[in-house]
Amino acid sequence: MNIIGFSASPRPEGSTAWAVDAILEGAWEHGAKVRSWSAAGLDLQPCRACFACRTKDRRCVIQDDMPRVHASLLEAQALVLGVPIFMSQMSAQAKIFVDRLHPLFAPRFSPTFQKRNAGKALVLAFVQGNPDPELFRIYVNYTCQTFRTLEFDVRESVVVAGTRSALVQEQDALHARLKAIGATLAS
Ligand SMILES: Cc1cc2nc3c(=O)[nH]c(=O)nc-3n(C[C@H](O)[C@H](O)[C@H](O)COP(=O)(O)O)c2cc1C
Repeated sequence: MNIIGFSASPRPEGSTAWAVDAILEGAWEHGAKVRSWSAAGLDLQPCRACFACRTKDRRCVIQDDMPRVHASLLEAQALVLGVPIFMSQMSAQAKIFVDRLHPLFAPRFSPTFQKRNAGKALVLAFVQGNPDPELFRIYVNYTCQTFRTLEFDVRESVVVAGTRSALVQEQDALHARLKAIGATLAS
């Protein structure tokens, strides 16, 4: 199985990148081919709503790094998306990533629905400073539903909470939990 991770954090070595990589590590140990992307090192520009991706050749006109991520995502059977919580919502980098999925993913009722892209497995890892993992539950569920509408097969959503006060990288039980999610995804 081919799995890609995408950390939508501006910090290349922050908690979100760590969480995504822990999940990928678990998947890799169970035979998956993995590749990790970070928004931190990429030129990712916001969607311009030009709708060129809705014309016949479906290409995005923006010449940045997103086409490379698209190519990697199309080759993969699963995506692990790390979403830092900023101001009670996904980071700007995560929103750009989601908007830029427009050329590839659409709801089934849409005339541009592409059946060949439907059903891609997805694990969402939300990362937040607040220690209460239930604090943004409504938003977490809403975001999962957004991806289900785009016909992703949402396998799991996990909330990594309390990064403000504790180094998540030092929490062995959390690392094991994230690896187990990756292992399940790969099997
Ligand atoms: C602009 C900004 C807004 C934030 N807003 C929230 C928030 O609303 N709730 C929360 O729990 N954490 C919030 N945080 C904390 C981040 O979720 C936390 O630092 C997380 O670890 C970020 O991921 P990273 O370690 O990959 O950078 C915010 C951080 C930033 C930079």
